[in-house]
Amino acid sequence: MRRRSTLTVVVVTVALVMALGATAALGAASFSDVPATHPFCADITRLADLEIVGGFPDGTYKPDDPVTRQQFAKIIVLATGKHTEAVDNQNDPTFTDVTPALGIPYPFDYIEEAAKAGFILGDQGKFNPANNITRVQLALVIVRAGGSGLADPPAGYQTGFTDVPDYAQAEVAKAKFNGILDGKTATTFDPYANATRGQVAKMVSRLLDKIGEPAPQAYHDADGLAGGAAYSQWWTLDAAGSGTKPTTTVGADFYRCKACHGWDGLGTAGSYANRTGMSTGAANRPDVSAADLRAAAGSKSFEELYGLVRNVGGRGIDEAANAHPDFAAVLSEAQAWNLVKFMREEWIDPDLLYDLTIDGLPVYSDTTVEPPVVVKPTLTYSSIGVLGNETEGQALFASSCASCHGADGTTIALEGMSVGHFVRSKPNEAWFKVKFGIPGAMPVGLVTETSDMQNLYKALANPANFPDMP
Ligand code: HEC
Ligand code: HEC
Repeated sequence: MRRRSTLTVVVVTVALVMALGATAALGAASFSDVPATHPFCADITRLADLEIVGGFPDGTYKPDDPVTRQQFAKIIVLATGKHTEAVDNQNDPTFTDVTPALGIPYPFDYIEEAAKAGFILGDQGKFNPANNITRVQLALVIVRAGGSGLADPPAGYQTGFTDVPDYAQAEVAKAKFNGILDGKTATTFDPYANATRGQVAKMVSRLLDKIGEPAPQAYHDADGLAGGAAYSQWWTLDAAGSGTKPTTTVGADFYRCKACHGWDGLGTAGSYANRTGMSTGAANRPDVSAADLRAAAGSKSFEELYGLVRNVGGRGIDEAANAHPDFAAVLSEAQAWNLVKFMREEWIDPDLLYDLTIDGLPVYSDTTVEPPVVVKPTLTYSSIGVLGNETEGQALFASSCASCHGADGTTIALEGMSVGHFVRSKPNEAWFKVKFGIPGAMPVGLVTETSDMQNLYKALANPANFPDMP
């Protein structure tokens, strides 16, 4: 009886949630019934901003309403980034009571995705999608979704709860240990009670603290290889999705990412430690930044990284200054996302290709002497391609590079160097061009796998096969 009445409510609720979720503006969510003083305000807002939950057209969130199993399936799939456009299993549904007729994509596709990810198992072939989800079911699903992102409690860890069924003891303990959910009292977990939309938002928000926020759709849609190309010279990319070349009054290096951050993204701590900038004399070029973009890519959220790249209100685009420009003025949103994706997914860790020793401080102008002198550290590259396989690298060069560069890499002079010589003297730069291309000369994505790049480096490091220019 109860199930039936719930079902009616749910169908309406869900349609509304879907409708609003799709249009919610990033960073702007707020609900009339979730004031800033509401205990779950921060968590609800966070999930709404991430488009994991939505509100109702009347501007409410209804934090005290229960959550159904199908609604939670959608929430957990979105929270873990498991939702894809393709509709899974249309002709072979996992559960007998979840058919495409219930609705595509919601709830059908989300439930299939949750099942595929192993988050939900169902009960004797059924999922009971319209039932309210219970606290114990939440614990099971959340812990499965958390996977290795959640820490195992130490041996002998006790929750203190006396009412948790045996089959869920481990999951409830893990959820509690990781701070995702707690009991009603010190000894009761109240496993079969429902959870409210507010409580679920809090639990999922705590889960995201552990496993990281899911990528927004714009990130999924982004092209990391195009982002890598843009990192070098975004304005030379073709009209489709590329930036507008600013009217320049300063040298191009003032807005090439690589000029300030280096090919390795390590700035003054990496391969550009010896590069002279405007404050040390070469006024057509900015100083190399001390920012560590590799660290930022690994630690910032998607939105943070996007905001840092765009830097709304930053220094004027064609000013000769050392600060990060206002790229929001010239890069499209898609192009900024491409850069974010490049930073997170396509940058090859330099340690995987070569070793770099920097002897001395990053380049600086010594003003204690008159006239001031520019002091540079000495950079030494070694172990180039040491992790690769030479035979495979030779084969790759023969099939992908020799047509333009010749069998031994000496056909085209690259700043007077052969390909082998270039890789041996500028291993920080060579891989970047090989992976992301050179507009008008070399296509994007000739070699994308890091292992292939290692093989290529191993082969090209050997001057017996890939000599300097004759
Ligand atoms: C003229 C030099 C310059 C250029 C060009 C430049 N940056 Fe920056 N960038 C900086 C400096 C300096 C900082 C440190 C913060 C500041 O001064 O704004 C920085 C900071 C950043 C940060 C934040 C790092 C952190 O840990 O907070 C990111 C991300 C970033 N830059 C990415 C890029 C990308 C991508 C491009 C190319 C689209 C680019 N930068 C082009 C100078 C530059
Ligand atoms: C379609 C022809 C073509 C192919 C294929 C090609 N290259 Fe190139 N490559 C060029 C041209 C042309 C240049 C010179 C661009 C310039 O100097 O502006 C170049 C430049 C380079 C550079 C120097 C980049 C620089 O900044 O000067 C390296 C390194 C390089 N290629 C390596 C490779 C490797 C390795 C492969 C195979 C994976 C490869 N190339 C495949 C045409 C090609």
